Amino acid sequence: MSKRPSISFAKFAAVENGTAILLLAAEGKAAQEAESVVGQALLSRIIDVSDFKGKLAASLSTLAPAGTELDRLVLVGAGDPARLKADDWLKLGGSAFAKIGKAKHVSVVLALPDTDVTGENAADFALGMLLRAYTFDKYKTKKGRSDEEREEKSSARITLLVADPQAAKKAFANAEAVAEGVVLARDLVNEPANILGPVEFAERIEELKKLDVKVEILDPKDMKKLGMGSLLGVAQGSVRPARLAIMEWQGGKGKDAPIAFVGKGVVFDSGGVSIKPAAGMDEMKGDMGGAAAVTGLLHTLASRKAKVNVVGIVGLVENMVDGNAQRPGDIVTSMSGQTIEVLNTDAEGRLVLADALYYCNERFQPKFMVNLATLTGAIMVALGQSHAGLFSNDDTLAAQLFDAGQATGEKVWRMPLGAEYDKLIDTKNADMKNIGTRFGGAIIAAQFLKRFVGDTAWAHLDIAGTAMGTPASEYNQSWASGFGVRLLDRLVQDNFEG
Ligand code: BES
Ligand code: MN
Ligand code: ZN
Repeated sequence: MSKRPSISFAKFAAVENGTAILLLAAEGKAAQEAESVVGQALLSRIIDVSDFKGKLAASLSTLAPAGTELDRLVLVGAGDPARLKADDWLKLGGSAFAKIGKAKHVSVVLALPDTDVTGENAADFALGMLLRAYTFDKYKTKKGRSDEEREEKSSARITLLVADPQAAKKAFANAEAVAEGVVLARDLVNEPANILGPVEFAERIEELKKLDVKVEILDPKDMKKLGMGSLLGVAQGSVRPARLAIMEWQGGKGKDAPIAFVGKGVVFDSGGVSIKPAAGMDEMKGDMGGAAAVTGLLHTLASRKAKVNVVGIVGLVENMVDGNAQRPGDIVTSMSGQTIEVLNTDAEGRLVLADALYYCNERFQPKFMVNLATLTGAIMVALGQSHAGLFSNDDTLAAQLFDAGQATGEKVWRMPLGAEYDKLIDTKNADMKNIGTRFGGAIIAAQFLKRFVGDTAWAHLDIAGTAMGTPASEYNQSWASGFGVRLLDRLVQDNFEG
C-alpha cells in the first residue's frame, strides 16, 4: 500500500463538516443516528429526487447539502441489513471509500434501522476501506490526476462512528493484520518477475522474522540432498536458482501438531520447452499466487498472534526455456521416490508441489495440509473467476473451507477426485506422467498432487481464476486479488484456535 488512510472509532456524535457517510437500508430507510446528521427532511428529499433505493453497495453523493456545513454527503446502500455477511461489510466499506472525494476528514455513521452494528461489522467495514485504498503504482514515475486523487484519499482521516468503539477497536486490530497480509500477497503477485525472482521472494519471506516467524530457506544444494528432483527439474532452465522457504509460527501449545499451508511459487511460467503462446504470457508473473497467499497468511497470523501452530512452505522456481531446460520425455525422481515422466514442461506447478507437499508431510506430520496453486487453466473453464476449485480427501476439512469461503466471499467449490481420474496419469515409462487426457484437466492435476500427501488430511485450492485478473470489485481494484489470505485466516480462526 503506497499510503493508507488512518481509521479511528468514536461514539455516535454530530457530524458538522467534511464528508459524512451514512448507511441506508432498502427503500432508503435510515437509522436515527444517520437521520440526525442532516435531518430527516433533507434525507427524504434527496432520496425522493434520486433513484437511489439503498441497494447493497450502491452509493449516491451530494455536494454541499443545503442547511449544513458539510462538503459532501455520501449515502451507501446496505440492502437488507438482516442479511449482511462479513463480505458484505467489506463491500460497504469499499464502496464508501471510493466516494470520500478530496475530504481531509470523513465521518461514517455506522448505524442501520432495527439492526445492531457490531464491532466485528465495523472492523470489516474498515477492512473494506483499507483494501479499496490499495494500489500498485510504485513504478509510475509520472502521477496522473487520478493518481493524485488516490493519494489525497489515502491521506484522509476517517472516523467510524459506532455504538461501541471499544469493541470495534478490538476487532479492528485483527482486521488490520488481515489487511496487511492481503496487501503483502497482492504486492508479491503484482511485482514483475524481473524484480521478484525466487531469491528475492525468499528475501521478502525472511522479513517475517520481525514478527517472530521462524524462517528457513533451502537452496538447490539442500534440495538436491533431499532428493527433490521433481522441483529442481522445473528450475533447471532458469539462471535464477530455486528456493524452498519454510515458515513456522508457534502460537499454540508447544507439543501440538501444526496445521500446514503449501504454495506454488512459480515466479514466471513461460511453459518451458512446451512454451506458452505469446498472448497473455505476461500474466504468468502471477504464477506464484499460491506462495503469495501462504506468505500473506503467515504474516496475518503472526501479526495477530493467532493461537495455533502453523507451518507455511512455498516452492519458488522459474520455469524457463533454455539449453539446460527440462525436456518433454524427461523422467525425474521426486523426493517421495516416485518417478515422473514429464510429458509437458508447462504442467510444472504440480512438479513443484509434489516435492513441497511430500517434504511438508514428512518433516512436520501436520494435522492437515492445504495447498494453494494457480495450477490449471482448466479450473477457469470449469468455474470461471468467482470460485476457486477445491479438491480434498477429507470431508470435514472441505466443509470448513466451504464455510470460510461463504463468510469471506473468497468462495470455493468442491470438485471430484476418483480412481477413474487417477489412472489417467499412469504411464508405462515411469510411476506417473505429469499430464492426462484433454478433459478434466483440473481434476487430473489434483489427482497428481494426491499421490504425494499420503494419508494426511489435505485440500488443494486451484486459484488460477481467482488470484489475478479478476474483475475489479468494491474492495479490490488491483490486478492481484490476494485471494486465499482472508479465506484461510477465517478457516484458522473459526476452527483451529484456542
Ligand atoms: N500456471 C499455469 C496455469 C494457469 C493458466 C494459471 C492461466 C493462471 C492462468 C500452469 O502451469 C499451466 O500451464 N497449466 C497447463 C497444464 C497443461 C499443460 C496440462 C494448463 O492449464 O494449460
Ligand atoms: Mn505451466
Ligand atoms: Zn504454472
